[in-house]
Amino acid sequence: MSATCEETVKLSDNVRKEIDDWLTRFPPEQKRSATLYALRMVQEENGWVSKPHMNAIAEYLEIAPVAVYEVATFYTMYDLEPKGKHKIGVCTNVSCQLCGSDKIVEHIKNKYQVGLNEVTKDGKYFFQEVECLGSCCGAPVVIVDDKHYKEKLTPEGLEKVLQELEG
Ligand code: FES
Repeated sequence: MSATCEETVKLSDNVRKEIDDWLTRFPPEQKRSATLYALRMVQEENGWVSKPHMNAIAEYLEIAPVAVYEVATFYTMYDLEPKGKHKIGVCTNVSCQLCGSDKIVEHIKNKYQVGLNEVTKDGKYFFQEVECLGSCCGAPVVIVDDKHYKEKLTPEGLEKVLQELEG
């Protein structure tokens, strides 16, 4: 489900249940402690976090909307606009750069005709530049859909990863 800024949305039953479970870990007056988790749940369900969804989180947690906006805009893991079906983060920090991440970036630019932080025309991939993933010994490193790290990657290896994603 997507939403524009003017719409009002309600959190799904599933998201509300997940938030309720999470809230049991905190004192009742500390509902804002569930903000990060609520944003994550909304993003997992919708692919991104719209302003109406942030408002719905604020209403559900009984906190000011600005408290949710602050968190959502501070952390880069939240997508505040629709991205591609799969998010591929290429680490371009020093170790990865020294070990060939520039070749992966060039491959992406040439084969998919997009730069980093852009979505391919078919909407399949959002190629993103990311900072050190803390896995420098496996440089160059790519993160796939925020979950799987692929280490010592080459342009050919990246193609294999993308093929696996398409099943
Ligand atoms: S520099 Fe890429 S994982 Fe550390």
